[in-house]
Amino acid sequence: MHVILMGPQGSGKGTQTERVRTRLNLASIATGELFRSAIKGGTGLGRQIQAVYDRGELVPDDLTVALVEERLDKLAQERSSGSTVDGVLYDGFPRTIGQADALRQALCARGEELTAVVAIDVPRERLIERLSGRRVCSTCGRVYNVVSDPPKADSICDVCGGSVIQRADDTPEAVSKRLDLYDVETAPLVDRYSNQGLVIHVDGDRPIDEVTESIVEAIQSTTGLAAASGR
Ligand code: AP5
Repeated sequence: MHVILMGPQGSGKGTQTERVRTRLNLASIATGELFRSAIKGGTGLGRQIQAVYDRGELVPDDLTVALVEERLDKLAQERSSGSTVDGVLYDGFPRTIGQADALRQALCARGEELTAVVAIDVPRERLIERLSGRRVCSTCGRVYNVVSDPPKADSICDVCGGSVIQRADDTPEAVSKRLDLYDVETAPLVDRYSNQGLVIHVDGDRPIDEVTESIVEAIQSTTGLAAASGR
């Protein structure tokens, strides 16, 4: 199955992807993560992406789609060598009509289709509050929040001991640009997927655990998938 987690910046897609992926035995494709690791690699491509990323703008569709297709191919290879994941959870992709069309074609070429879109709804003022308090582990990417979910020891990741830092694109200017871009480029996708009967709305303005439960239930109700308990 293929499930998209959709929502504005700060709605909790990254936070929930990690939790839901584990609960339902899914692989994830998170384009923001793919770009951050390309930037970390320090290649020419990484430097090109960094300039766009730091300004809070969208990376061009062709580049984004190529990275996603590469990841889908890798997952297919892993499956043929015995991996037993039950599907893919998309975090931060697609974000434009062009990317949505490319995803549909990529799945169709593999004899598959989109199963559901979970839209995480959070009011704008709460998004700004969350993003200004967001911190991430520079090593493993675990997401924290200075108010709602701080690391146990100041600036040290609970999971891997890496340093917990603020993201380069969490400046007030970049945050505001990213939220405006979401309204223009990405929100129309929710309408499009709604017209196809694929969207389930989840109230994301609640404690993290409650939101996780609602997303897991939403996906299970659509797919009939039993939680991959113990896996
Ligand atoms: P990406 O990394 O995907 O960032 P984003 O879309 O800006 O989304 P965020 O990571 O800001 O928000 P989130 O919803 O994941 O929230 P989070 O869980 O962290 O992309 C970065 C950049 O890469 C883009 O700007 C663009 O340049 C490029 N890019 C990526 N994908 C692209 C694409 N498809 N096409 C083109 N360009 C692309 O949570 C936020 C904070 O809130 C955290 O501190 C968290 O602890 C806290 N929080 C979460 N849930 C709750 C809750 N329920 N209650 C209280 N606090 C909570």
